[in-house]
Amino acid sequence: MTTLVYTVTETLRYRGKVGQWAWVLHRVAGLGTLLFLVLHVIDTSWAAFYPELYAQAIREYQSPLFTIGEFALVGCVVYHAFNGLRIAVLDYKPAWWAYQARAMLYVVIGTVAVLIPTYALMLRHVVNFYREDRDIAGLDEIAGTMSEFALGFVVIIAVALVLSGLYGLVTRGDRGVRLPGRLEASLWGFMRLSGVLILPLVFGHLAMMHVIQGVFDITGDGIGVIGTPHVNETGTAVEFVGRRWDYLVAGVAIWRVYDGFLLALALVHGFNGLRYVVNDYAARPLVNRALNWAILFGMVALIVLGAAALLAGVDETAYEIATDITFGH
Ligand code: HEM
Ligand code: HEM
Repeated sequence: MTTLVYTVTETLRYRGKVGQWAWVLHRVAGLGTLLFLVLHVIDTSWAAFYPELYAQAIREYQSPLFTIGEFALVGCVVYHAFNGLRIAVLDYKPAWWAYQARAMLYVVIGTVAVLIPTYALMLRHVVNFYREDRDIAGLDEIAGTMSEFALGFVVIIAVALVLSGLYGLVTRGDRGVRLPGRLEASLWGFMRLSGVLILPLVFGHLAMMHVIQGVFDITGDGIGVIGTPHVNETGTAVEFVGRRWDYLVAGVAIWRVYDGFLLALALVHGFNGLRYVVNDYAARPLVNRALNWAILFGMVALIVLGAAALLAGVDETAYEIATDITFGH
C-alpha cells in the first residue's frame, strides 16, 4: 500500500515528460480493459448457461452509465493497442530508439484518427436508441449486479490471503512469488507477440459490436446478425450470440474459433500484465503470494468458463426464455 501511494505521488511529481505519461496511461488503459473483460467473459457465458441473466446483463449495458463506460473502453483499447505496438516494435529495433518522440507522436495521431470516426459512428447508434421511448435499467439495478461482482472479487482475494498466511506458517517461507528467469523471459516475449495478435482480433470485434452494429442492435428484432446471413427474429441478445456461434463456414463455426483465440490471448496477456502491476506494488510476501495466486486462479477459471460457453453454445429454447425476460411476455 505504501509503495502504491509512493508511486502515485512520485508519478505526479516526477518530470519524465511524455514517456512517463504514456506509461501511466498504458497501465491504466490495460487494467481498465481487463476489468471489463473479466465481467464480459462471465456474462457472455450466461448466454449459454443462464439466458435470463444474459438478457438482464445486456439490458444494463444499454444504460447511460454503461454507454459512458463503453466510450471509455473503446478509448482505452485503441490507445493501449497503438502504444503497445510502439513498445513491441521499439523493443525489437533498438536502432530506432532515437525516434522515440516521433513514435509517440504516431501513437497519438493513430489513436485520435481512429477514435474520431469511431466515436461519431457510435454516437449515431446511441442517439437512435435513446430517441425511442425505452425501458432503461436504473442505477439501483446496475449497483445491485456490480456489488455482486465486487463481493466475488473480495471473497477470492480474502481466501487467497488466508491460504497465503497458512502457507507462510507451514513453510516458514518469507518470499513472494518469483517465476524462473526463463519463464519470465518467455512471458515478456508473449506480451509482445500476443499484443500484436490481439490487435486485429479486438479491433474486428469492436468494429462489429460498436461501429457496424452497436451494443443496441444486439437486441433489435428483424435486424441482421453481424457476420452471419441470419436475422435476429426474437430480437434478444441471446439469439444474437446463438446465431453467431452456430454460423458455419465450410463446416467451421468461425465466430466460436475467433472468440476462442480472443479469449485465450486477451486473458493470458491481461492477467500477466496485472501480475506485473501487482509485483511492482505488493512487496510484502504474504500479500504478494495471495495476489499472484488470485491472478492465476482468475485467469484459469475465466478461460475454462469462456471455453465451456463456446463449446456448449446457445440452445434455441433459450431464445424463448430470453424473449420473456426482454419483452415481459
Ligand atoms: C462493450 C463492448 C463489447 C461488446 C458489446 C461485446 C459483445 C460481445 C458479444 C455479443 C459476444 C458474444 C459472442 C459473439 O457474438 O461473438 C462477445 C464475446 C466475447 N468478447 Fe466481446 N464485446 C465487447 C468488447 C470486448 C472487448 C474489449 C474484448 C477483449 C478485450 C472482448 C472479448 C470477447 C471475448 C473473449 C468473447 C468470447 C467470450 C466467451 O468465450 O464466452 N469483447 N462480445
Ligand atoms: C490490442 C492489442 C494490444 C497490444 C498491442 C498490447 C501490448 C502490450 C504491451 C507491449 C505491453 C507491455 C508488456 C511489458 O511491459 O512487458 C502490455 C501490457 C499490458 N497489457 Fe496489453 N496489449 C494489447 C491488448 C491488451 C488487452 C485486450 C488487455 C486487457 C485484457 C491488455 C492489458 C494489459 C495490461 C494490464 C498490461 C500491463 C501494463 C503495465 O505493466 O504497465 N492489453 N500490452
